[in-house]
Amino acid sequence: MMNLRVGFVLSLVSLSLIACDARTDKESLEYRAELYDGCAQCHGVNGEGNAEIGAPSIAGLERWYVKAQLRKFKRSQRGWHPEDAGGKRMWPMARAMDTDEKVDLVSAYVASLPLYKPEPTLEGGNPATGKIYFATCVQCHGADAGGNIDEYGPPLNYSDDWYLLTQLQNFKAGLRGTHPDDVTGAKMRPFSMTLPTEQAMKDVIAYIGTLPNQK
Ligand code: HEC
Ligand code: HEC
Repeated sequence: MMNLRVGFVLSLVSLSLIACDARTDKESLEYRAELYDGCAQCHGVNGEGNAEIGAPSIAGLERWYVKAQLRKFKRSQRGWHPEDAGGKRMWPMARAMDTDEKVDLVSAYVASLPLYKPEPTLEGGNPATGKIYFATCVQCHGADAGGNIDEYGPPLNYSDDWYLLTQLQNFKAGLRGTHPDDVTGAKMRPFSMTLPTEQAMKDVIAYIGTLPNQK
């Protein structure tokens, strides 16, 4: 009798251990890395990006921001515009993360990747002029361009310069930030209008390039 009881208790313990294991498994780095596998073909194993296909460096981007963007792609609030070529490439990919949990865990994985410092690719930007334009951006992106969660402004200081240019152009042309449910995109869009020319965009990006590339 005693033995039976002990056996029963032991099997309960081992059952709960198995359940615990399954839970830990999903939280494990291996599981997150596995979720990221499909992303690596475009964003690179270390999240360093691939300029040729317009996939930006995403290594170290904040978890809340990655999550929000994946949700937007999934819900077609970003990447829906017929002329948004880059967004169109990313848009179906977010669907592979078919549960909120996967979206969250892959975002945590992206956030945990060591920051990557992309090489500058744009020429002709004047950082001194850019600094003047950037004064308007500080409120939401921070004086160091490190982002401001309270305003949903992502960090810009470790993004590819070519990607920043495309996004500013996209906001301005209405390819991003115009979907009726894209509330945070709508916050950004008017500020893309404060940059009157492509030169002004390059200037502000050149200034961002002078800021420390860190979190
Ligand atoms: C087929 C290539 C491809 C795959 C696979 C892919 N992406 Fe992307 N991703 C892109 C492109 C291209 C963009 C740029 C979109 C744009 O120009 O607006 C992008 C943009 C993003 C952004 C927005 C970055 C920002 O600063 O706003 C995030 C976050 C992202 N991808 C995460 C992921 C994750 C996580 C996965 C895997 C679930 C993934 N991507 C799979 C091509 C891809
Ligand atoms: C009122 C707040 C606000 C101001 C001011 C603002 N932004 Fe933004 N910006 C945002 C938000 C919010 C997002 C994220 C949009 C989204 O969720 O898709 C964003 C996104 C961006 C992106 C895309 C980043 C990425 O990883 O895809 C760029 C580039 C950008 N902003 C540049 C600027 C520049 C340059 C200025 C100043 C001229 C500026 N922003 C001013 C709120 C702001």
